[in-house]
Amino acid sequence: MTLTPQWLDELRARTVLSALIGNTTRIQKAGREYKACCPFHNEKTPSFTINDEKGFYHCFGCGAHGDAIRWMTDQRGLPFMDAIKELAAAAGMDVPAPDPRAAKRAEKAQSLHDVTNASQDWFVAQLDGIEGREARAYLSKRGLTDQTRRAFGLGFAPDSRSKLKDALKSFPEEMLVETGMLIKPEEEAGKPARESYDRFRGRLMIPIRDQRGRVIAFGGRILGQGEPKYLNSPETPLFDKGRTLYNLDKAAPAARKSGRIVVVEGYMDVIAIAQAGIAEAVAPLGTALTEAQIERLWSMVETPVLCFDGDSAGQRAALRAAHRALPLLKPGHSLAFATLPTGQDPDDLIRASGVRAFEAVLEGAIPLVELIWRSEEAALPLDTPEQRAGLRQRLDDLCKTIADGEIRYHYSQHLRELFSARFARPARPSGFAPAQRRSGGSVKNGRWMPPPPPPTADAQAIRETGGDLLLLRAVLAGLLRFPTEIMVHREALASLMPGDDRLADFLDALLEASDHEETVETERLLTILGERDLYNMAKGLLRADALHFTFTRDEADKRRAQRDLAEAIAVIVAIPRIDSELAAVTRAMAENLDEAGFARQQSLRQLKADLAARVAELAQPLDE
Ligand code: UTP
Ligand code: MN
Repeated sequence: MTLTPQWLDELRARTVLSALIGNTTRIQKAGREYKACCPFHNEKTPSFTINDEKGFYHCFGCGAHGDAIRWMTDQRGLPFMDAIKELAAAAGMDVPAPDPRAAKRAEKAQSLHDVTNASQDWFVAQLDGIEGREARAYLSKRGLTDQTRRAFGLGFAPDSRSKLKDALKSFPEEMLVETGMLIKPEEEAGKPARESYDRFRGRLMIPIRDQRGRVIAFGGRILGQGEPKYLNSPETPLFDKGRTLYNLDKAAPAARKSGRIVVVEGYMDVIAIAQAGIAEAVAPLGTALTEAQIERLWSMVETPVLCFDGDSAGQRAALRAAHRALPLLKPGHSLAFATLPTGQDPDDLIRASGVRAFEAVLEGAIPLVELIWRSEEAALPLDTPEQRAGLRQRLDDLCKTIADGEIRYHYSQHLRELFSARFARPARPSGFAPAQRRSGGSVKNGRWMPPPPPPTADAQAIRETGGDLLLLRAVLAGLLRFPTEIMVHREALASLMPGDDRLADFLDALLEASDHEETVETERLLTILGERDLYNMAKGLLRADALHFTFTRDEADKRRAQRDLAEAIAVIVAIPRIDSELAAVTRAMAENLDEAGFARQQSLRQLKADLAARVAELAQPLDE
């Protein structure tokens, strides 16, 4: 029987050590770890600790130390293979059949890691050296700091066919070929065999790490223009593209802490996002998300957020991911979809508009079921009964792909509700499901509330200090002036929970009006508000005519006002989320002080300060 190191890693990754030990030993949570009276020696005060993130236990009293497998052999007294079988059964994995060749491969894998490690060290040294100047300049042009460069182990492959080959002469050539570091041209009959040569030449090197942080492959980016933009390692015994997620080793602990994981498209996006203070981002390796990758994400958080470009290619990719996830859905797990501004990836967005703009995009993520509904609803015309029946049919067909019966039932119910609501009154051109506000905030009406922890006292206090209420008043005035914007931002607006009741009523009235009427105009809004006793307030808001969003002399002013209005809404939406996240990080740090928590706290504070500054700017009357 042979088990590869990869398989054993997978087994360890899928086993929650504290749960395993907790089966037979009384354990107690202590910060991010667990404590227990050591089961290996007799003691009254607990010195046995369990760390789930690292996957091992350690006793400070007797020195007992090990992982899940050691626990089963040493504490439970099982023979090694029995231990493996029991853990595999619990983790839902099949134990591989005996295979003598696999034993060889496993041995070799260890040494293949030595090759990728040596390559990694060499690439880093090249980036630091004379040859790396252009690449260093490229990085700084892209705004990546030295600290980021080191954190991600970036390197440089000089433009040469043999420099890496020479540098790694101590390894057999086949191993360099097998890890994908060298290319060996195919032999052709009758021709002399050709020399192997360096695969990566003249490229910025991005090491790809496995979940335990070992370098297994590389992505190489050309400096400047050229094809292909990225050259990646081929599939090798170390590198299985469909099972790997870029940056998973760093993102996983951060994700477990924050309860969030973000999936973006590119290496550079992950790196830029991390530099901006969000550690929990990963990327697939240039392909669509695979089932294995989705499962891996779910092992960390309930609802991973996938980010896609707003263009049609991006939206098609989102839909593909959605369809792929349906059969895999299991209770408690789903996906959320965030849409980036068209033509901007997260890296571009953060560089152009700052990390808060990206946070705002994540805020706007919609749940899987909503994505399915919107895409099917928008797919074809719905003017005739037959076309409507067609929509029903398509939705039913999609529901049928859901394997979990319970979830299938709820999807079907939910989509039926959306369907009925959609046709209960004359169709509106933009055709969203009618948003029903604040009915408990669940996914029920198609509107998904990101999972914010309950507002803490300090978050509440911050919100009530008035800075953002001032901004909200300005926004409401802006919406009164440009009623078409209500429709544009309805999702975001519907997720707001103003601390002030009057403002909340006012916002409700605006949303409702836009719900019921195809085009609303300022005058009509005033009438509707009048029916609700909000007329004076509306007039008051409009009178503050110099307010940022209402003062418009010409078209350019109007466009600026609309843009600022969009940003202001994004800011208002983001603030409570950041407050509660900050509170959560601060709470976690009270239990367990660590570098990452501190860094996250700092970056959230910075984000808050930036937001506050922008609030002040946006809420300010224009001086004229
Ligand atoms: P993008 O073209 O969006 O790259 O490809 P990017 O991350 O924004 O790169 P920069 O900002 O221009 O440097 C997204 C991902 O698709 C894969 C890579 O994994 C990349 O990160 N890709 C792209 C390739 O594998 N090969 C390519 O030629 C292009
Ligand atoms: Mn990019």
